[in-house]
Amino acid sequence: MASTYNPMLQNDDRYQTVLKTFWKFSTQHQVQREFIRSTLPDILASIGNGKSQMNIIGVGSGEGKLPKKCKVDVEMLSQLRLKHPGLLLENEVVEPSAQRIHKFREMVADMSDLDPVKFIWNQMTASEFEEQWRQREIKKKADFIHLFHVLYFVEDAGATISFFQSLLEKNGKLLINIVSGKSHYMNLWAIFHKELRPQKLEVPFMNSTYIKKLLDKRGVPYQSYELQCVLDITACFTEGDETGEILLDFVTHTIFFSKTASPDLKQRILRRLRDAQCSVEKDGRILFNINQEMIILEALS
Ligand SMILES: C[S@@+](CC[C@H](N)C(=O)[O-])C[C@H]1O[C@@H](n2cnc3c(N)ncnc32)[C@H](O)[C@@H]1O
Repeated sequence: MASTYNPMLQNDDRYQTVLKTFWKFSTQHQVQREFIRSTLPDILASIGNGKSQMNIIGVGSGEGKLPKKCKVDVEMLSQLRLKHPGLLLENEVVEPSAQRIHKFREMVADMSDLDPVKFIWNQMTASEFEEQWRQREIKKKADFIHLFHVLYFVEDAGATISFFQSLLEKNGKLLINIVSGKSHYMNLWAIFHKELRPQKLEVPFMNSTYIKKLLDKRGVPYQSYELQCVLDITACFTEGDETGEILLDFVTHTIFFSKTASPDLKQRILRRLRDAQCSVEKDGRILFNINQEMIILEALS
């Protein structure tokens, strides 16, 4: 796998397990699907006017799908095709993980109804993609670019947004999906950041509030939508439970957290997770608030 800054990605097999478990125990796929089906179509209506081809870039697309048949990237392509029938779609995928991009390619190969979509596969990080784009002096513009839960992994989220926004065609849209700054997830990170991520203290764990402040400071207009989302962390409170340990890796963004963290840190994190500042108990399950935000940017004028 190409190098990325986030320590979570140093063991891609474990990270893959973490992602799969997270999707199983969170409502993220429902939340994304609901947004893509109900709100995104209106956002996409105004792009690509009068063109015969529309260019899309998906950054950090992973497998391009989530469990329970929610094929996130494909769902977005379907919405584009519904809004702009007859247009040729060219979809660039930027994803550094060999195993996830392979799964995405396999899924696409099995979908005959995706025929009018041409895929370009870039197994690389967002910054490698940017470097390649600049070196080759590519002039192509994109009508729709999406960055779903990928800004936690890039070296400089602000620079990444600026680069991709600069690629937008007139009327183009950039869609960012990121954990909400108002989520309980961020309450936890506000307390434990110093211990969980001592090598990166200059910026908080990436979240929507940080991104929106950055955009405000630059005078970049945006639209945003807060989405309710929870992660069932009940298993984290059973000592030695494998699912619980995997979910703790997700929560702390640390590979094999239970094996590598001090017992004291683990106890303090578990105590905090159980606190009303982080979770609620419903029907015997402990639900951690991991609300998300969708932020939409226009092309620079
Ligand atoms: C949390 S997953 C999100 C997957 C999917 N977009 C979703 O919303 O479920 C993050 C994805 O970003 C990829 N990734 C990690 N670092 C990246 C980088 N620097 N540039 C682009 N993608 C990256 C990971 O390999 C992973 O597939």
